[in-house]
Amino acid sequence: MAADLYPPLNLKISTPLLELHGATDDLLTQLLPVVRAGVAGSPPFPFDDPMSLYDDNPGRERRWLQAIWRGRGTVRPDSWRLYFAVMVEGQAVGMQDLLGREFDSFRTVSTFSWLAPGVRHRGLGREMRAAILHLAFEGFGASEATSEAFFDNVASNRVSEVMGYQPDGSDWATRRGEAAVLKRWRLTRDAWAANRRSDIELTGVDECKPVLYITDTVR
Ligand SMILES: CC(C)(COP(=O)(O)OP(=O)(O)OC[C@H]1O[C@@H](n2cnc3c(N)ncnc32)[C@H](O)[C@@H]1OP(=O)(O)O)[C@@H](O)C(=O)NCCC(=O)NCCS
Repeated sequence: MAADLYPPLNLKISTPLLELHGATDDLLTQLLPVVRAGVAGSPPFPFDDPMSLYDDNPGRERRWLQAIWRGRGTVRPDSWRLYFAVMVEGQAVGMQDLLGREFDSFRTVSTFSWLAPGVRHRGLGREMRAAILHLAFEGFGASEATSEAFFDNVASNRVSEVMGYQPDGSDWATRRGEAAVLKRWRLTRDAWAANRRSDIELTGVDECKPVLYITDTVR
């Protein structure tokens, strides 16, 4: 019922290794034990501030949920964020988000993700980025995707590099109050198309476009 009124909850992206499901409250509940156990507990810290996942419990879980609900509740033409649960063999093991800013004008997206510590470094990070890029470029007609990660986040920077993003300068941000350099990356539509996957399936895309103020023009 809620998904009929807010179609991003019905979005699904399937690859041979995993599925991304629109993050319903049931799926977020499945992820709560992972959030409780901690996804960013030791250096090098991966997220810039402010970030609920750095908070101490018991507030961490509530603030994490509230941030996602806030994101769902502030879908506007100039800014939206879609939240997906990463599903492997029926288990929720992480999150993959897609963010649009002035999407109908710029056709640019950015991404954000995390996995439970126990399932990292097995190729899932790369696969979920490929899945979300397929939604952005194939499903929504994006022109480019950007990403950024702290200089010492080897896995995230490597995922961007292997997906064909090019370095796009650097920036500063704080993590847990300490300043650190972010590496920025940019993937053009042509670079994505050169390595386009034919084994990724999208479900429920058209119903989302009006909600995200997307018109059907590829630029
Ligand atoms: C970022 C993240 C989602 C990547 O997922 P992952 O499943 O660990 O990454 P993959 O297994 O797909 O590996 C991607 C690449 O990074 C490399 N890599 C992954 N973890 C690594 C590590 N700890 N040390 C060195 N290299 C690593 C892999 O070898 C692979 O490179 P390759 O394609 O050349 O072999 C995951 O590590 C994570 O949740 N990290 C914490 C949160 C985070 O950093 N989020 C992103 C914020 S910008």
